[in-house]
Amino acid sequence: MNGKCKISMAVIRRLPKYHRYLKDLLNRDIKRISSKELSDIIGFTASQIRQDLNNFGGFGQQGYGYNVEELYYEIGKILGLTKDYKTIIIGAGNLGQALANYTNFERVGFEVKALFDINPKLFGIKIRDIEVRDMDNVKEFIKDKDIDIAILCTNKGSAQGVADKLVDSGIKAIWNFAPIDIRVPKDVIVENVNLIESLLTLTYLYKSVNQ
Ligand code: NAI
Repeated sequence: MNGKCKISMAVIRRLPKYHRYLKDLLNRDIKRISSKELSDIIGFTASQIRQDLNNFGGFGQQGYGYNVEELYYEIGKILGLTKDYKTIIIGAGNLGQALANYTNFERVGFEVKALFDINPKLFGIKIRDIEVRDMDNVKEFIKDKDIDIAILCTNKGSAQGVADKLVDSGIKAIWNFAPIDIRVPKDVIVENVNLIESLLTLTYLYKSVNQ
């Protein structure tokens, strides 16, 4: 596959779901699956699945379907899961601590190396065995530990300043939970997560079916 080909964001957003369902099939020792069977469990149409996977060269074989292990591995490769990622959490408040407590990140290859905050009362506290450190030392830590991803969990007002500092420290990927569209240079990737937006989608759909 040519890594530079332009894949639509809609397809990219579906890949983690394929990956999760395929992992489930692997755990159940299922060796192969047709696009129809995959469609029944995943909820996308069989033709959507074939189209999505054709973007990356297909993987399926006529009359055989998909080799589950191979497809899981290939989609993992496309998602960049061939390496482990070192992360830090900025903002060790309610959300930062909750994320640090979530052990499933490690299972998919994301290790939280530290939390950072400006509140001295939090310095030295450990969430599981992950220490809260002084934000003043973040640049040095990022460079020393070769951190790949920063998880931004500060309050809205601090988020842009923190993002600037992270970029200046060499961070190229920010998982942003603060409710603000942070501005970063073109070579830095930001993925925003917003539970309220998801909740509003839910209320829209709720309203639609209950009208
Ligand atoms: P919190 O107030 O408990 O924690 C924020 C932490 O950030 C505090 O410990 C504070 O000292 C620290 N902080 C502030 N400025 C900093 C800086 N310059 N450098 C390092 N640390 C700094 O807030 P909570 O509830 O944990 O929420 C954190 C953020 O996440 C907020 O922006 C909130 O709106 C957002 N949020 C987003 C959600 C989402 O779905 N995206 C869900 C929940 C919260």
